[in-house]
Amino acid sequence: MTDLSFFIEPVYIATIFFFIVGLQRMSHPLTARTGIVWAGAAMFIATIVTFFMPNLTNLALIAIAIVIGGGFGYIAAKRVAMTDMPQMIALYNGMGGGAAACISAVVLLGTPTEVTGSLAVVGGLIGAVSFSGSIIAFLKLQGWMPARAISFTGQQVLNLLIFLLAAISGACIIIQPAFIPLAVSMYLPLFFVLALGFGLLMTLPIGGADMPVVISMYNAFTGLAVALDGFSFASPNYAMIVAGVIVGAAGSILTLQMAKAMNRSLTNVFFGAFGAKDESGGEVKGSMKAIEADDAAILLAYATKVIIAPGYGMAVAQAQQKVKELTDLLGKKDITVKFAIHPVAGRMPGHMNVLLAEAGVSYDQLFDRDEINPEFPATDVVLVIGANDTVNPAAHRQGSPLFGMPVLDVEQAKNVIVLKRGQGRGFAGIENDLFYRDNTKMLYGDAQETVGKLVQALKKL
Ligand code: TAP
Repeated sequence: MTDLSFFIEPVYIATIFFFIVGLQRMSHPLTARTGIVWAGAAMFIATIVTFFMPNLTNLALIAIAIVIGGGFGYIAAKRVAMTDMPQMIALYNGMGGGAAACISAVVLLGTPTEVTGSLAVVGGLIGAVSFSGSIIAFLKLQGWMPARAISFTGQQVLNLLIFLLAAISGACIIIQPAFIPLAVSMYLPLFFVLALGFGLLMTLPIGGADMPVVISMYNAFTGLAVALDGFSFASPNYAMIVAGVIVGAAGSILTLQMAKAMNRSLTNVFFGAFGAKDESGGEVKGSMKAIEADDAAILLAYATKVIIAPGYGMAVAQAQQKVKELTDLLGKKDITVKFAIHPVAGRMPGHMNVLLAEAGVSYDQLFDRDEINPEFPATDVVLVIGANDTVNPAAHRQGSPLFGMPVLDVEQAKNVIVLKRGQGRGFAGIENDLFYRDNTKMLYGDAQETVGKLVQALKKL
């Protein structure tokens, strides 16, 4: 067969260009979809061209694995509900980490040099931690295990011990010291068991509300593991190195931005057992006051300024189209309507932006927390549509699991109307005293239905 391997490197370089264009386009909601296509095409081309590598064996097995994995991924991605997207990302990200760990194992089972072996050990450690950690994140988000922080005495010492043992066994794979009475073949399985255990134990004490930060950090880990694996081959794989570095860098930036949005340091996220219990001593006073859609519509009709604070419940109810209808209707009555977008509202970064863009709400009407917070005191009505944690004033109280997370200060508005189905708590699972305040009224029901009722009532006024 003709050797076509000469064009592998140039094609890899071309795919690197595609990855960068894709990432650049993903940075704006309007171009994000085409960004995904660019990056997907790059990955496809890089995969195909890899088949032309000289001395590649087990081609049929590789092809079967790709068909099974790709088929499963395609069907699962088509079927997944928008609200279940974070756990799907956690799962797929974990698979990436697992694949990187497997590549490290293959390198270490061969004849690596001290340098390539060390790179494979570090890649394997990071990949395995990302795999088991992401699986725990998936189980927590899917509700297959308690989402709360699971902590016990001596947990951090145990975690440190397991990490050190994993690092030592990893070093032993390369050095193979004669004074340790363990067969060389034992180091590799021991190393991976310890690395997987560390990822698992490291994620257990992290509460559900911190999961977005954790998933994004494991995403960065996976990228880093892939890049290190790319270096660990006898001849480096540039597509793996660049794609891995891009994912690692983008994931790290996203992690830091999200931690900043929640006003939490990464040490606090990983060692703070967030969401364990509420020790703020904050007591809920008063009672929730229900309002009917007709009365809420009158309040809206007499307002000059309305701010809408959407959250996870709007996504569950798929109420975005109705919300757009309501926005247009208020606009026609010369009422200023703005949207207060909290960076972690919903269940994934940009969740609200994506839904509102889908419904055709103009970007000019979307404002982030820092821009909109000063405007609440001069706002007649705030409509909280399926949001809870992101509008919880408990975040201002020391000892609350939400303490320090910057929230939308909607309680400062003249009137607050909360659209939710009942007494359900937010993702962090804690009480929200906003619902009991004098200026808050509760409009109960599925958000799509209640926003629809508001639209109907407003049309009659
Ligand atoms: P949440 O705190 O999750 O509260 C959502 C509220 O929506 C619930 O109280 C629920 O109350 C209501 N709801 C559910 N279904 C509804 C429906 N069909 N119609 C009307 N209301 C409905 O929402 P949030 O304020 O957006 O906060 C997001 C939380 O998720 C934060 O804690 C955040 O850290 C976390 N998180 C975010 C992400 C990202 S990256 N965005 C990822 C994972 C986790 P009822 O049951 O009474 O209706």
